[in-house]
Formats: sequence, structure tokens, C-alpha cells
Amino acid sequence: MKHRIRALTLLLLLTALFVLPAKAAEPCHHPNKTKISETPAACTSAGETVYVCDTCGETLTETVPALGHDYKEISRREPTCTKDGSVTYRCTRCRDRYKETLKAPGHKYKKTRTDPTCTEAGNITAVCARCGDTRIKTLRAKGHDYKTKVKAPTCVKAGKTVFTCARCGDVYTKTTPKLGHNYKEDTVLPTCTKAGKTVFTCLRCGKEKTRKLSPLGHSYGEWTVIKPATYRNSGKEIRYCVRGDKKVTRTVPRLTHLKASACDPGDADMDGSVTTEDARLILRLAMGIDDGLDTAQRKKADFDDKDGVTMEDARYTLRVCLGMDPYAPTLLPGYTYKGRTAKDYPIAEKDGVTYIVNPYGYTLIANKTYSLPAAYAPGNLTEECRAAYNEMAAAAAKDGINLFIVSGYRSWATQDSLYRRYAAQDGAAAADTYSARPGHSEHQTGLAMDLNSLSGSFANTREGKWLAANAHKYGFIIRYQKDKQSITGYIYEPWHVRYLGKELAAEVYGSGLCLEEYFGITSTYG
Ligand code: DAL
Ligand code: ZN
Repeated sequence: MKHRIRALTLLLLLTALFVLPAKAAEPCHHPNKTKISETPAACTSAGETVYVCDTCGETLTETVPALGHDYKEISRREPTCTKDGSVTYRCTRCRDRYKETLKAPGHKYKKTRTDPTCTEAGNITAVCARCGDTRIKTLRAKGHDYKTKVKAPTCVKAGKTVFTCARCGDVYTKTTPKLGHNYKEDTVLPTCTKAGKTVFTCLRCGKEKTRKLSPLGHSYGEWTVIKPATYRNSGKEIRYCVRGDKKVTRTVPRLTHLKASACDPGDADMDGSVTTEDARLILRLAMGIDDGLDTAQRKKADFDDKDGVTMEDARYTLRVCLGMDPYAPTLLPGYTYKGRTAKDYPIAEKDGVTYIVNPYGYTLIANKTYSLPAAYAPGNLTEECRAAYNEMAAAAAKDGINLFIVSGYRSWATQDSLYRRYAAQDGAAAADTYSARPGHSEHQTGLAMDLNSLSGSFANTREGKWLAANAHKYGFIIRYQKDKQSITGYIYEPWHVRYLGKELAAEVYGSGLCLEEYFGITSTYG
């Protein structure tokens, strides 16, 4: 269409140029014109209307400028915080379209902060006000900031350290164990008779404690003979404490079981041994028959060295010839002769129990030298002893004195546990001064008892004084006298009485001697 219009326009122009005569043209004002083509203006191209002047035939062209696009938004994608969006426009006329980017604005964070504590983490939280995107930055827990308060331990008390957090006030305590004493020892060694001690002084706190070291007791060497015992006279032996000059002597009973060959008295014919011939000579001499013995022979014939030559001397000599102890007494059945005491009392033994034979009977002896077998167990005070005590207690009561038994019979086993307890408590050496070892206690005999009070002060009480002055009247003696410890082996025990029978008790009491002195016996552990 457009091309036809153009061809028509060109034909008209050529016609006008060659057909029409040329004449000096008057300007035409194109009063009428005929539209021969019209090209409307578009969005991007101008429009054009072509006319032909009806008068002059001039082709006239009118242009209309391009309309420009008429864009309208046809779609929109909003941007997010992090992704661009877009808007699409389309021209309502030519449908041309274009796209406009909507820039992502980025997050718009709002921060909140939670401070950390000592033990819990904090954080900074950023939340995007637009999209809710959340970022969390953890703030580490600070840990406690402890300050310490120290209480140092002592020797006897535990210490402690109190930890308090300066920030949150958290408190905990750590205990430090007590140190215990740091003792320095200072020892004074015991001697035989005096106790020693170890003083412990704590180098830290000064506390002092003392441990008593019991006296060691004497430690004697071997006995040495200083005067040999003979058949006539007792001998003497001595021994020294290895730690000092302390010495003790003991009497050795005169010899008993003499060997005829070694026997000096009785050898009236002085041929070097005692025979029945000697006994015959001595008997004859005792009868007044003079066999011409000289002074030296007569001296040997006087076997017991007293009262001149008597029938007794002949008997002694004969006994030697028979291998017997010339001085052995005749004992009750079952008793064995064991020799004589330093005071010439025969010592007898029966079933392992020792008796001193004396004018008042066979007196049972239990002391440090003479022991009792464990099997010796009368089980109670003997009837005789109990009766004597009852009589004494009744007499005392009449005088307004109340006597009572604190400890009577004690078995070997009871004494054993008692002694062990004392030895553990005070040491054996100390215990030996007041407690008998098992088998050595008079309490096992059933003939001894402790009355009223086991205290030294008992001696000063009315009861103690009454007992000391009157016990012998009822057959008792205060067995362990004051100042006799070196002889009895025990400290003063004003409460311990021993039944001896009225006659012997009165004798012993009257003598002022302790029983060991009275009989001439010892009381020492071997
Ligand atoms: N108290 C005395 C010595 C004893 O134990 O037999
Ligand atoms: Zn006693």
C-alpha cells in the first residue's frame, strides 16, 4: 500500500514536469489539497501525511513526531534483603518491554546483647528487622574471679581456704589437713632404779608430752661365791648389776646331800673318806670309849661342830655313808626334803609347792623365789583362812571397824591377766614391784586377801591401823611391810594379809621381821 502511494506520487510529479508548460509561477497557497497517503506516527517512528495540492499539484508532506512508548508495569518481583528484585514494563502500544532491577537493600540488623556470666556464655544476637535473619555471636563465659581467704592448718586443726568469686559471689572451701605435731625428742634414759623419760616437744606449736620410761631394774651378772657353803655352814654368793655397783648377796644353804668321799666331818680316821668305820669310831667316842683319837680326829668326829662328839654326830656320819643328807629331817609322807633355809628351817616340797617346816607346821611359801604350779587351785580361801577372817572381821566390827575383802583367792590365770595388764600399763619392771607374776602370788594359795582399799593411805585409816595392830591375833600378818621392799620384793601393801595360823603369826609379828627374814629365805625372780 505504502509502495503504491509512493509510485502514484512519483507519476504525478513526472506529469507535472513534462506535460505542464513552464510559466513563471505564482506562489500557490495550496488552498485545497488532497491527501494521498498517511503514515501514522508510531512509538519510535514519526508519522507522515502526504497531500497533493489541488491547485498546484505540489506534493505536501506533513510529519507527526514519534509518539514514544507508553510503558505500563506488567510484573514486579520485590527484592529481598540479599536478592535483587525486578519490575517489568510493557509498552501498551508496541508491546516493547523492559526490565528494571530493584536493588537488594541488604539486611537491617537490630542487635541485642546478653552479657556472659562466670559460668554461662552470653551472646550478641542480630535479627534483621526485615527478613528475620538471625546472627548469633557467642560471648564466652568469663570464668570465676576467685579471691582467697586462707586459714592455715595447725598441728591439731585442719586449715581451710575460702574462695569467693569477686564477680558472682560463688563460694567454695578447700580444707587443708592438720599438720600433726612435729616432735623433737629429748630423752633422759632410765637407770636401774630411776625412771627416765622422753619429752616430745613440737617444733611448731610447742606442745609437750612426756613418755615415762620405766626403771630398767637391775640386770645382774652371774652369782660369784664369796664364801663356799659347807656341810656345816651356809655359804655366801654375790652378784653385781652390770650397769652399776649395785650388789646383792645371798646365802647359800649349807650342803646337804654329801658324798662320802667329799665329806670332811665324820672322817674320824682321817683316811680321806667317810665310811662306816668312821661312824663306828664316832659312836664309840660318843659312848665314852677312847680309841686314842687325837685332837684333829676328834674335831672331825664332831660332825655338827657343836656340843662335842655325840650320838647325833655318829648318826650324821652314818647317813653320809648311806648317801643321805645328814641333816635331812623326817618329813610327813609325800613331802620331799629340799634343803634348809638360811635360818636352818627345812624346806619341803609337795606337788611342786614349797613349804617351810617350822615348829608350828608346814608353812606354804609363795613369793618371787618360790612359785606355785598353775594346777594349784584351791578355788577359794581355805576354810581355815576364811574362818580366821570371819573371826577377825567380827572382832573389828566390835571395835567399830568395818573390814571387807576386796580380793581373796585368785587363780593362776587371773593373776596372769592381772599382771599382764599392769606390765602393759607400767612396764614389767614397775609391775614387778606391786604385782606378782602368775604362779608367784599369795592370792593363789587361798591364804591371802586384800582388805578394804588398795591404797598406801589405807595404813593411816582407822581400819588400816586396827588391822596392823590386831591381825596377828587372828592368825594374819601384814605380808609386805613398810621398808622391806628389797626383801619381800614388793612395795608396802598395808591391805594384804597372809594367814599363818595364830601362833606363827604372833611369832612373826613379835619379831618385827617380814616372813622372808623370819624364815631366812629369799624372794627374787631367778
Ligand atoms: N600384790 C601382790 C604382791 C600380788 O600380786 O600377789
Ligand atoms: Zn594382795
